Amino acid sequence: MSRIITIASQKGGVGKTTTALNLGYGLSRAGKRTLVIDGDPQGGLTAACNLKKKTARGLLHVLEEEIDAAGHPAGFLFHENLAILGSGAIDANDISRLEEAAEQGQLVPAIQRLAAGFEYVLLDAPVGVGRIARALLSASDFYLIVINCKAGTMKTLPRMMRTAEWVRAEVKPDLRFLGVLVNMYDGDSSPEKKIYAYFKASLSRNFFFDTVIPLDDRFERASFHSVPVAMLRQGENPFFPHASLAGELLARTADTAAPGGPAPAGEGGPRRDEDDFFMDRLQELCEKNGYSSALLADEMGLSLTSCNCTIDTDALAAFTSVLADSLEKAESVLDQEDPNNITLEVNESDRIILHRFKALNSTYFLLLTGPRAAVFPGTIEETVAAIRARLTG
Ligand SMILES: Nc1ncnc2c1ncn2[C@@H]1O[C@H](COP(=O)(O)OP(=O)(O)O)[C@@H](O)[C@H]1O
Ligand SMILES: [Mg+2]
Repeated sequence: MSRIITIASQKGGVGKTTTALNLGYGLSRAGKRTLVIDGDPQGGLTAACNLKKKTARGLLHVLEEEIDAAGHPAGFLFHENLAILGSGAIDANDISRLEEAAEQGQLVPAIQRLAAGFEYVLLDAPVGVGRIARALLSASDFYLIVINCKAGTMKTLPRMMRTAEWVRAEVKPDLRFLGVLVNMYDGDSSPEKKIYAYFKASLSRNFFFDTVIPLDDRFERASFHSVPVAMLRQGENPFFPHASLAGELLARTADTAAPGGPAPAGEGGPRRDEDDFFMDRLQELCEKNGYSSALLADEMGLSLTSCNCTIDTDALAAFTSVLADSLEKAESVLDQEDPNNITLEVNESDRIILHRFKALNSTYFLLLTGPRAAVFPGTIEETVAAIRARLTG
C-alpha cells in the first residue's frame, strides 16, 4: 500500500521543492521505494533535478496516454529506490491542460495509478490551494506544510490552518495533517529563535516536526548542481536533517501512529487558559474604566489577546513593536515624560495609550483606545500587575 503525501505551502520560495527532493531521497535511503512527482506546472522539481536531460515526459503525458504504473516515464535517479516524475509541462498550453485535468478530476486517478508499486509518493505542490493543489490534496492521504521562521510567514499559520481545514472539509475528509516543517531556520538569528519558541510553546505538541531544516548554502549549491544535498561532496552532513525528517515522517505515517497529534485548525496563538485570563483582565479594564478597546502584545509584535478591537489585531500588535523602536525618541518628539507610557490625543475626545512593561526578561505592550475621560494610569497599573503575575507564574 502506498502513502501519498502533498507538500504544500501558503508562500512561495519557502522550500517545498527542496523538501520534496531531499525528503524523497531520505525515504529512499531508508529503504522505501519512493516516487516524487512534480505537481507544480512551473516545474520547480523538474528543474531542481535537471529531469529534462533524461526525459521531457511527465505527469501531463501520464494523463494523456493513460500510462500505467509499469510504463510510466519517471526516471530513477540518485538512488535505486527513488523515482522522479516531472510535470511534463513546457508551455502555457500545457499548464492550462494540467489545470483542466485537475478541474475535471483526472489528476487523482492518474496519481493513484502512478503510486502503485511505491511505498511513498511525495507530491510537490504549487503554492496555495488553487485548482492543482486541491487536486493533489484530494489524491493524497497526508499533507505537510513547509514554512520559514519569519514573523510575517508564521503569522499566516492560523489562516493556513483554517485553509487546510477547509480543504479537509471540502476536498477530502480523511486527509491527514502531518505537521509543519520549519525550513531555512537561522539559528543565529535571535528574532527567529524567539518566533520559533513562541509558536512551538503556543501550539500543540506535534504541530511542528521536531526536525528543523537549517538555513544552509549547500542546499542552494545542490540545487545549482541539480542533485539532492547528500550528493554533494561531503554532503552527508547537510543531509542529516532530511534523514531525520524521513524518520519522523515514517513514524507519523505508520499505521500504529497516534492519530492526529497536530492542532485542529484555528488553534494558533496562546494557550487557551492564558488567553482567557488575559481576555478577562482586558475586558475588566475596558468596562470599569471606560476604554473602548484593549490589546496585549509581546515584544515581537505578536498579539496575545485583544478586546473590542475593530481592526486587524495582528496588524495592530505588529505596530506596537515597531512603535517601541521609536519610543525613546518619542520622549522628546511627542513631548512625553515616560517612554513606557505614551499617550496620543487622536481627536477632540479620544486618545490612544501605549503602555510598555517587562515581565521576566521579556517586554510586553498594552495598547488602549478610549475617550479622554477614561481613567489613566492607575487602573492600568493594576491590570499590568495581574498580567505580570500571571506571566511570571
Ligand atoms: N534550508 C535551506 N537553506 C538554504 N537555501 C534553501 C533551503 N531550502 C531551500 N533553499 C533555496 O531556496 C530557494 C527556494 O526553494 P524551493 O524549494 O524552490 O521553494 P518552493 O518550492 O517553496 O518555491 C531555492 O533556491 C533553494 O535552493
Ligand atoms: Mg517549488
